[in-house]
Amino acid sequence: MSNLQNTSLKAYNTFGIDVAAEHLVSIESTGELVKTLAEISQKELLILGGGSNVLFMNDIKGTVLLNKLEGISVVDENEGHVWVKAGGGVNWHEFVLHCIHQNWAGIENLSLIPGSVGAAPMQNIGAYGVETKDVFHELEAIEISTGKLKTFSNAECQFGYRESVFKQALKGQYLISSVTFKLDKKPTFKTSYGAITTELENMKVTDFSIQAISKAVINIRQSKLPDPKVTGNAGSFFKNPVVPISLAESIKKEYPEASAYPVDDNSMKLAAGWLIDKAGWKGKTYGNYGVHPKQALVLVNYGGATGQNIYDLSTEILADIKSKFGVELEREVNIVR
Ligand code: FAD
Ligand code: EPU
Repeated sequence: MSNLQNTSLKAYNTFGIDVAAEHLVSIESTGELVKTLAEISQKELLILGGGSNVLFMNDIKGTVLLNKLEGISVVDENEGHVWVKAGGGVNWHEFVLHCIHQNWAGIENLSLIPGSVGAAPMQNIGAYGVETKDVFHELEAIEISTGKLKTFSNAECQFGYRESVFKQALKGQYLISSVTFKLDKKPTFKTSYGAITTELENMKVTDFSIQAISKAVINIRQSKLPDPKVTGNAGSFFKNPVVPISLAESIKKEYPEASAYPVDDNSMKLAAGWLIDKAGWKGKTYGNYGVHPKQALVLVNYGGATGQNIYDLSTEILADIKSKFGVELEREVNIVR
């Protein structure tokens, strides 16, 4: 356990926003966690994993708890499946690589997503046709007010598109200490989404494997998403909006090339990146921050921008998309005030 006072969080968030935390406490065991929770003001507490889905607006009063709960173990297996438990502080991509190395299938499409295992259920991370909920068995979480351990099933997490109960009704009430995934010993390849098939062709792959799919996903991601080590960002800043079919149809009538996918009988999902791009924001730069030139859904900090700069830009984009297309975008990134 380490405890730093009045320390910069710049290295602890992928946006690279330079705010200070009054206390920054690194937690390496649940024992340390329960002890720390008993000692601090729980009203002024922020849990942090890799800091890859947060935008810091101000210095943080109170305690930032850095989740460093490590460990990967097999808790059960049968002929077809393996149940793998990972500590909440395990790096997500390292976990994916570990599973691929063991030939455990199911999360290869989620390669190269930054952050921690413990944050994966928070917004039900997803990419290339797979979401956490598809491979999730259960998680353990410590209730912050009591220090008690509770287990949550898939249904109890109330997963949705970039949503879970931990972002809604139970917001701020639990620290996710471990997650158990149900993975496949015999893979089912998910290659229909986006450019995976084309990339596999480019790679001259004829025999599919989870290793090849992971590499294809990594290649696609690296071709359009900025590397946070080089350019500050938190991935998609907004969610893809789900709108009534009538609105999607009127946009498609005017712009036949607009991306729209059916959700249910009444609604369609639009690509926020397309809307923001079409509205002319892609690549716009305001000194040291702006909209990424290759992916309009990603706001970037070129160095030295404040959380307020990025937030104000996102507010302008929200208003412009509403006025141009009648669509209300919603921020995906967690705004920390
Ligand atoms: P943090 O940013 O540290 O925290 C996020 C939120 O969860 C905060 O509210 C925090 O308080 C809370 N939290 C964190 N850990 C815990 C815990 N153990 N218990 C309780 N609460 C916790 N996301 C996708 O879904 N798909 C993508 O394809 C994707 N691509 C990305 C690409 C880039 C380049 C970047 C920078 C981000 C991308 N993201 C994507 C977003 C991000 O990687 C995920 O949201 C990730 O799960 C965040 O993990 P983290 O550990 O960094 O969370
Ligand atoms: N598009 C544009 N211009 C742009 C960006 C996108 O026209 O500047 C169009 C694309 O051509 C495509 C469509 O919009 O037709 C969708 O784009 P893309 O495939 O890049 O995916 P996305 O919808 O922008 C989502 C997730 C990503 C995830 C990818 C792959 C959300 C909010 N974002 O992006 O997740 O990696 O699909 O599955 O759902 C994240 O959550 O941080 C994230 C990066």
